[in-house]
Amino acid sequence: MAAAGGTVTTREGWTSGTTDVVQLLRAGASAPSSHNSQPWRLRWHHDAVEVHGDPDRRLAVADPDARELRLACGAALVNVRLAVRAQGRRAHTQLLPDPADRWFLGRVRPGSALPPSAWESELAAAIPRRHTDRHPFDGRPLPAVLRDHMGRAAARESCRLVFLTETGERRRLRDLTSRAHRQQRADPAFVAEWEHWIGHAAREEDGLPRAHAAHAPRADDAWRPRDFGDVVADSDRTAHHVGLEDEPTVAVLLSYDDGALAHLRAGAAMQQVLLTATAHGVGSSFVAPPLEVAAVRDEVRALLGGVLWPQVILRLGWGRPVPPTPRRRHPDV
Ligand SMILES: Cc1cc2nc3c(=O)[nH]c(=O)nc-3n(C[C@H](O)[C@H](O)[C@H](O)COP(=O)(O)O)c2cc1C
Repeated sequence: MAAAGGTVTTREGWTSGTTDVVQLLRAGASAPSSHNSQPWRLRWHHDAVEVHGDPDRRLAVADPDARELRLACGAALVNVRLAVRAQGRRAHTQLLPDPADRWFLGRVRPGSALPPSAWESELAAAIPRRHTDRHPFDGRPLPAVLRDHMGRAAARESCRLVFLTETGERRRLRDLTSRAHRQQRADPAFVAEWEHWIGHAAREEDGLPRAHAAHAPRADDAWRPRDFGDVVADSDRTAHHVGLEDEPTVAVLLSYDDGALAHLRAGAAMQQVLLTATAHGVGSSFVAPPLEVAAVRDEVRALLGGVLWPQVILRLGWGRPVPPTPRRRHPDV
């Protein structure tokens, strides 16, 4: 048992001065990740929470460049940062702190006392309430003021959030989504990886359980997210399933660069957007396939002007509460 800043304790009750370390680690581990792979190792080291990417949990087929791994870890870092702020301490964040270790993605060190702002408290409170919602949304549009809030949340992390409103663009992105999805499903390596993580009865602490897949959209839904579906027998599907809304609110998060640092910042922006949505009662889910197939991602980029880099596609709308997805029980400490 290592000491946390001199004050210590049991694995369940770490404190370091006024810092509740376990709470910080839990906040980090609540981040979203593709296939719920949780591709990180979180630990308290000396006086900071460290976030290390875990290459063994990278999706080698869907995510060969570890872009999505870094998005997830960028989101974990934001959660830790907000949790530190909610505990009334300054949060000092360093991204890629060790040039010799490409998997050491960031650290957050609690600093001197500083009460959180109202929005920091709001976002921190949203961390345990944010869950991916794959149900249909009710179709009411999101008010402009809410879109502005989410746009500003992305801008805080030097990214842009673009809502797709033009009919031609929406149709094109929907077609690209279907194409990417078909391409992935035709690739045995992708399917094997997917089956390893999704609907696997033996997986209890990671991957996506069958129960979450049971509310899957049907194959004929126009916008097909992915982490569901073929693993679910028809009888398991919800009896009242009505398919996804025809015209969901779709937003694309774009970054100004496409290297490791940009991916971490995009992950932070993604999480700020998601928490802002949650804080306002807005549900969210992801549409990853078009950004996982390199040639299709190039087309998405061209569709959106060809200058910025598309990192995340979100479906947003008014939903209902959804249950959490499991996490590994003990973050590494
Ligand atoms: C980069 C990224 C891509 C994702 N892609 C998809 C997707 O294509 N379809 C989907 O249903 N969920 C997708 N997810 C959501 C994950 O499955 C989800 O975050 C994970 O199961 C944990 O659940 P939670 O978000 O409810 O905590 C994605 C998440 C991330 C971070």
